[in-house]
Amino acid sequence: MNRRDFIINSIVMIGGLPFLEYIKMVLASEKSLNSNVGEKKMKVLLINGSCHKDGTTFTALKEIANTLKKDNIDSEIIQLGPDAQQDCIACGYCREHDKCVFNDIANEIIEKMKTSDALIVGSPVYYAHPSGRVLSVLDRVFYAGGRFLKHKPAASVAVARRAGTTATIDVLNKYFTINQMPVVSSTYWNMVFGANAQDAKEDKEGLQTMRNLAHNMANVLKIIGEAKNMNFEEVIEKGAKTNFVR
Ligand SMILES: Cc1cc2nc3c(=O)[nH]c(=O)nc-3n(C[C@H](O)[C@H](O)[C@H](O)COP(=O)(O)O)c2cc1C
Repeated sequence: MNRRDFIINSIVMIGGLPFLEYIKMVLASEKSLNSNVGEKKMKVLLINGSCHKDGTTFTALKEIANTLKKDNIDSEIIQLGPDAQQDCIACGYCREHDKCVFNDIANEIIEKMKTSDALIVGSPVYYAHPSGRVLSVLDRVFYAGGRFLKHKPAASVAVARRAGTTATIDVLNKYFTINQMPVVSSTYWNMVFGANAQDAKEDKEGLQTMRNLAHNMANVLKIIGEAKNMNFEEVIEKGAKTNFVR
């Protein structure tokens, strides 16, 4: 594929967001956060929002990680595991400290996102929504560490025995779209079906969707690397914040 086709393909892939605006955002963000994009191998952090270490969600995320590796992108899967996860208690500590008052996996994820270039969140469907544990962790990661994630490409993945995947993906994508993170897509909505890992391995289209998501994510990261010498300023308006009543 020549350079022109590569870029045009990627415009389609990013969807909605104008390519130039996207690149401007990413580069401005790199400057403000002193990102190391372009100086090292790019890395995607994947969060497994299931209590099962090797379950359906892991099977989907592992397919993505294996494909990223083939595309020369590093990755790491963080397991939330079966332990109870702390909710946000809205104490405001993070406003002063850029980290959560509870020094647990949420702070670990914030730390890792400082040196990661993209985020993928996977969750099992529980009653047609993401697992409670992933919401508890993501509320705190984004509230306390959102500035270390902004402008970085992201994607969400839902797994289920039968139903609730699109609602789950919608909820997860909302973390990204309030935080200036372009959402990377695939050839189908990012879902894998199965009551367990064994089922998931038989969902051929689901796993293909995971591989295509990984390819698209790798391409977006390569574009960011390619564009790193372009000179853009961040143009973001700030100031207006209303609570409807005032
Ligand atoms: C509390 C609970 C609620 C669930 N709700 C749904 C549901 O709404 N729709 C569905 O298709 N599967 C539902 N499931 C099944 C899981 O989504 C499914 O077994 C999934 O493969 C588990 O993934 P994991 O192995 O990564 O944890 C539910 C499972 C549990 C434990």
